[in-house]
Amino acid sequence: MTIDSNRRAFLRHGTAAVAAALLPVTLVDVAQARGVEPFTFAVLSDAHLQQMRGAEFVRSWDRGLRRAIAEVNLLTPAPDFVVFGGDLAHAGRRDELDHGAELLSALRAPVRHVVGEHDYYLDLGNAWSQLFGAQWYSFDHKGVHFIVLNSVLTDAAWMDAYSARPRERMEAVIGLGQAGAPAFQVGDAQRAWLAQDLRVVSKPTPIVVLSHAPLQRLYRGWNFWTEDSDAVHALLRPFDRVTVIYGHVHQLQYSRVGNITFFSAMSTAWPYPYPESYAQAVDVLPTLSIPENRADPFFERDGAGWQFINLASVKTELYYNLYNNPARSVIVNAHGDPEDTTYAAAAGRVPSQQHY
Ligand SMILES: [Fe+2]
Ligand SMILES: [Fe+2]
Repeated sequence: MTIDSNRRAFLRHGTAAVAAALLPVTLVDVAQARGVEPFTFAVLSDAHLQQMRGAEFVRSWDRGLRRAIAEVNLLTPAPDFVVFGGDLAHAGRRDELDHGAELLSALRAPVRHVVGEHDYYLDLGNAWSQLFGAQWYSFDHKGVHFIVLNSVLTDAAWMDAYSARPRERMEAVIGLGQAGAPAFQVGDAQRAWLAQDLRVVSKPTPIVVLSHAPLQRLYRGWNFWTEDSDAVHALLRPFDRVTVIYGHVHQLQYSRVGNITFFSAMSTAWPYPYPESYAQAVDVLPTLSIPENRADPFFERDGAGWQFINLASVKTELYYNLYNNPARSVIVNAHGDPEDTTYAAAAGRVPSQQHY
């Protein structure tokens, strides 16, 4: 099957699924890459399962994840595995993580887990690791090297200050735009492990990094930020093709730094607005320190759409089916950069929606 016919086949499946349900599922196609046996994997992220009391959980967050799981189970061909991109729990409680593990057990494909800050900061990932294992690890699948990172660590001094106050520690981290929240980092120990892990990986081997935080410094005000991302990029720079898939931002983003293509997975719980359309609170209107490159203008609710990622092309291309918004393609332009040629052009833009 050619790349184009593969793409059309997947888009057909995706379009049918979206018409029915508009679910936040990312499907990644690695067919046709050099030296790689064709396969797909799906990504779900940021379920934020939140316990109210006892066995009661916030129903809409539960439903988002349940529906996305049902969607993944219907995909044809079935994905080889599913990545859960972190923030399975909202407040990091054992009950929330147990509930998430139970819901995810309905997936027919095996699951690879990434830890998010909402899973981590109550007990430093203890309950999470008991359920899902190591917080950073790597594995190979059909010619692709996958690396899973815990990218929500932070500096030791900040952690020490909260060592006896786990609930306050969690609350200090998880508020969006909260003053004093520490910047996320991968950290020295994990970067040393990564350097070691990469020593046996050949230059042409496609690498996919699965992370919760963006592994970029996008917007510190909302902690869309990885402090030591330059050092992580330096470790990945020698390789021909690296793709980073991250959660956390609950919105659609794509960007590229040299040989590394980045894209976000959406949330099954709720979308965050794009900062530029956050019109309710003009005084705290966020300014991106490094403008993200995305198919602009998207709609706030696009965080609950469907996306198809083609890792088979020379550089990653993206296809989005969106809620209440035309489908978008982000394809490689004449300069070799990913671009939404239709909607990023000034004539194709519509004013930012103002819902807040
Ligand atoms: Fe999240
Ligand atoms: Fe997060």
